[in-house]
Amino acid sequence: MSHTASNLWHLLRTGWQGGPPSDAPPDAAPDAPAQPDTDTEDAPVPIWHVCFVTGAGAGLVGMGLGIAMGLAKDFALTPVHAHINLLGWVCLMLYGLYYRAAPRPAGRLAWTQVSMAVVGFVAMTGGLWLLLTDRVPGIAQPVVIVGSLMTIGSMALFLAVVLRDALRPRRADTAR
Ligand code: HEM
Repeated sequence: MSHTASNLWHLLRTGWQGGPPSDAPPDAAPDAPAQPDTDTEDAPVPIWHVCFVTGAGAGLVGMGLGIAMGLAKDFALTPVHAHINLLGWVCLMLYGLYYRAAPRPAGRLAWTQVSMAVVGFVAMTGGLWLLLTDRVPGIAQPVVIVGSLMTIGSMALFLAVVLRDALRPRRADTAR
């Protein structure tokens, strides 16, 4: 395995919590309880609360916008409404449900993933709103582009989290 591939493998297995890759065999102690995850246990709120609060807030705003569009019979902001509901309400709630049920502590990789998802969601929907209402046109498009790249980046990181969780040894208290 190349050096880069070996580092990526280490990252997936440890979720960015370890030091440099060691030479120990990857499956040395599959039944040993994992080390406490200080990143997660020291966090002021669990990661799923961040997802649920942001997701429910987005759902309220998205549905409110839907009602406002219906009342005004003006559907110009339909793409904003759709993306607030789908990226904010649906995606963030699904991320939260995964982290709530995950057999592993979240760790830095997961916090990076959720942070990127939230920032990407705000940038993409805010940028779309600026674009469709013709406000600061020079800024709106780059904001949408950056937001959408962060959004797809967060989905790539989510895949990395899921793969990491599938590959790391289970915690004894959550083994099933
Ligand atoms: C109170 C709740 C909601 C209201 C009042 C509402 C209202 C609307 C309205 C008025 C439109 C525009 C329809 C048109 O252009 O003819 C629309 C489009 C859309 N809505 Fe909602 N909506 C609600 C909830 C949701 C939720 C929860 C989601 C997704 C999870 C969603 C996803 C979409 C999508 C994807 C479109 C675009 C459909 C298309 O262009 O074909 N909406 N909604």
